[in-house]
Amino acid sequence: MIMHHGDADIGVYGLGTMGSALALNLADHGFKVAVSNKEADWIVPFIDASGPLEARLTGTETLSDFVAAIARPRSILFMIPSGAPMDAMIDAIMPLLDEGDTIIDGGNADFNDTRRRSAAFKGTGRHFVGMGVSGGAEGARHGPSMMVGGTPHSWDQLRPMVQAIAAKFEGDPCVAHLGPDGAGHFVKTVHNGIEYADMQMIAEVYGLLRDTGGQSAPEIGALFEGWQNGPLSSYLIEVSAAALKTVDPETGQPLVDVILDQAGQKGTGRWTLIEALKLGQSASTIEAAVGARGWSSEKGTRVTAEPQLPEMPQQSDFPPPADLEHALLAARILGHAQGFRILAAASADFDWQLDMARISEIWRAGCIIRSALLDDFAAAFRGDAPQGELVLAPAISEMLERSIGALRRVVAAAVLAGVAVPSLSAALAWYDTIRRGRGTANLIQAQRDFFGAHGFERLDAEGPHHGIWNPIQKT
Ligand code: 6PG
Repeated sequence: MIMHHGDADIGVYGLGTMGSALALNLADHGFKVAVSNKEADWIVPFIDASGPLEARLTGTETLSDFVAAIARPRSILFMIPSGAPMDAMIDAIMPLLDEGDTIIDGGNADFNDTRRRSAAFKGTGRHFVGMGVSGGAEGARHGPSMMVGGTPHSWDQLRPMVQAIAAKFEGDPCVAHLGPDGAGHFVKTVHNGIEYADMQMIAEVYGLLRDTGGQSAPEIGALFEGWQNGPLSSYLIEVSAAALKTVDPETGQPLVDVILDQAGQKGTGRWTLIEALKLGQSASTIEAAVGARGWSSEKGTRVTAEPQLPEMPQQSDFPPPADLEHALLAARILGHAQGFRILAAASADFDWQLDMARISEIWRAGCIIRSALLDDFAAAFRGDAPQGELVLAPAISEMLERSIGALRRVVAAAVLAGVAVPSLSAALAWYDTIRRGRGTANLIQAQRDFFGAHGFERLDAEGPHHGIWNPIQKT
């Protein structure tokens, strides 16, 4: 291990998949990187495997050697498990830091933790940054999308490095300082919420094609592949197409056909939902996706229920592939629109001044939800879309107008066939809610006033009112 004291541009602590990929990406772009890891025996093999990048990597075993190897003011990126390990790390490193140093949590952290930590750093002369990193291992190694929070001081320090390593969309680095304290981690959380909804919607279309269309995995994969040439073009469709066409070497079956239908989740989808509800926002497409993952894990319950809850699905015309493509497009727009509304609500609540256009721009490459649509969303927000009201931007509402009929037909066909499409249905129900000036909450208010004297407003008069309600008729 060659020791270079104090000249590393950045330190990366945590040599798991994401941390090691980011360290190599930084080294690839000419930065000197000090690296360390809780399990010290990972360090030498990591550096040995780095080939020509070895000269730019400094391995350090102790935390004090690691900090000492980094030039001041220091930038130290932590890629470690979120929660308690990050708090323990802050406690351990704080005495070793100097005025102006910045530590960055690049994991999927709860933005509430990031806000708490940022507040604790205030006035210490040290800085804490919550940075969302998207793109998986491949993205981290060759160009992730990064959502940065924290102070302007830290952003000045980090900008040259993160702009160099970020994915580029037509030359524009997919990274931005989005706001103070937890803004970066919040935006990453909502990114993941949208990711959950988008994955679920794709899986629902796959389910329809499989269970009512009788199509095989490779056939569905080929259809998805074709969609890459249209408005659905995106990383998640690309991934789904490739996955569906993959063959299991052991059985010769499509690999997806031998995978247990039980999905994991680390929690960011759920966090999006919780925060959306706290902000009074509807995140129904994301809720449907989180709920579907929950139900997927209850395999035993579903297997027991199948013979006990039988259904004779009515015959329905199976929607043509073009309808499925347009249905997915409409639902994808609506899923993103819900995400942007959550961002707008949080921005107002926390006074973050989030820039929806810039967020759309940095999601155009590198991240998991990158898609052709994000360029349209960026243009809409740069143009006349009010912040957060994506569906009202003319270019977007025209796209919806052309595709919503297909979503309606697909959801109707799925309902008639008894196939659950919770995220697609939620998108449609949300669309039908927002496009009606007169809703049904007048009856909810009547019910509330009836049993709880909660009061209501009238259409024709100011101020709170109460009803003189008819008595309940006993029959
Ligand atoms: C990304 C992803 C990533 C996430 C995984 C798994 O943007 O690169 O969102 O951060 O951890 O996709 O998430 P789940 O285990 O919750 O599905």
